[in-house]
Amino acid sequence: MKTYRVAVIPGDGIGKEVVPEGIAVLEAAAKRFGFAFDWRHFDWSCERFIKTGRMMPEDGIAQLKPFDAIFLGAVGHPDVPDHISLWGLLIPIRRSFLQYVNLRPVRLFDGIETPLKNWKPGDIDFQIVRENVEGEYSNIGGRIYQGTEDEMAIQQTVFTRRGVTRVIRYAFELARKSKKHLTSATKSNGIIFTMPFWDECFNEIAAEYPDVRTDNYHIDILTAHFVRHPDWFDVVVGSNLFGDILSDLGPAVVGSIGIAPSANLNPEREFPSMFEPVHGSAPDIAGKGIANPIGQIWSGAMMLRHLGEAKVADAVEAAIADVLAKRRVRTPDIGGNASTKDLGQAVAAALGGTK
Ligand code: NAI
Ligand code: MG
Repeated sequence: MKTYRVAVIPGDGIGKEVVPEGIAVLEAAAKRFGFAFDWRHFDWSCERFIKTGRMMPEDGIAQLKPFDAIFLGAVGHPDVPDHISLWGLLIPIRRSFLQYVNLRPVRLFDGIETPLKNWKPGDIDFQIVRENVEGEYSNIGGRIYQGTEDEMAIQQTVFTRRGVTRVIRYAFELARKSKKHLTSATKSNGIIFTMPFWDECFNEIAAEYPDVRTDNYHIDILTAHFVRHPDWFDVVVGSNLFGDILSDLGPAVVGSIGIAPSANLNPEREFPSMFEPVHGSAPDIAGKGIANPIGQIWSGAMMLRHLGEAKVADAVEAAIADVLAKRRVRTPDIGGNASTKDLGQAVAAALGGTK
């Protein structure tokens, strides 16, 4: 039987609560469609950092390399500074495995209330492509004269031609397969070196895709358009920082960050790609068993699609849509009082056809 080897990193907080539901749904899918998963669990997390001083072992990247994919929950703990959890685990994985695309879909489902008025399911359905390995999130810089009047901090933004063009090209290819419309996030009026460079690369590549309609907005007005005109978008591409901000705003506009998935992709498939919900470890609700598992489950569907199981991915997404539309099993963030497990089981059951 075809078997996919997947490294599982539940992480911290609600990551440990939603990952089991993601696995249960993917197991139900594998059973129905006749293939298998070989899951291998890693306890890499802030809790591990507190015990050992490291988020993952020194050879962590080498341990992950042979897997077909990585399925991650979330990392983050109130007692560990966020830059340690991010730079000790997520960023090394994204960079070592050249996961230079962070793909984050935004969709308004039937059964989810949006804070915006007058939109119905189907009106809002777009994808954000975030540059994931360079840009504003660089470790080039430093601080001097700490604790004095002369204290100074400098951080460099790094845009390379290779890095900018490959992510923009990925976005054009995605738009070509979608509604043939690509929007670029810029800020070339205020950030006068890197952003005009980004725009130049975008325009050069646009010339190769005459069939794709393009738009270009400064990030400030683009955030306003996300709220006022979410139906304008098909694929939106942005740098690491802009893409990060847009991909929290997008899910908020369609109802809950708890349902938003993401894929950290190495499009060339030289290395494993990583699939994780957009949300973090949510210490405010961790341990209560009420986190919404849909972001994790939908990330699992994105993993299936990347592994070449598009039909199975469609079935998982249909099961999510079906359960949400019935409005019977809902976690508190989307207006109900169901548990993480209740909602996970409802999606698994919908997939098995045994509601
Ligand atoms: P967060 O996403 O953990 O939580 C933001 C808010 O959304 C909270 O009120 C939370 O309860 C709610 N929420 C998030 N996911 C939910 C779900 N599945 N169901 C219901 N409600 C949900 O972001 P926050 O609070 O900024 O960060 C908390 C920790 O997570 C920090 O340590 C941060 O560094 C880390 N983090 C980790 C990420 C990752 O592992 N990729 C991404 C974002 C944050
Ligand atoms: Mg974020």
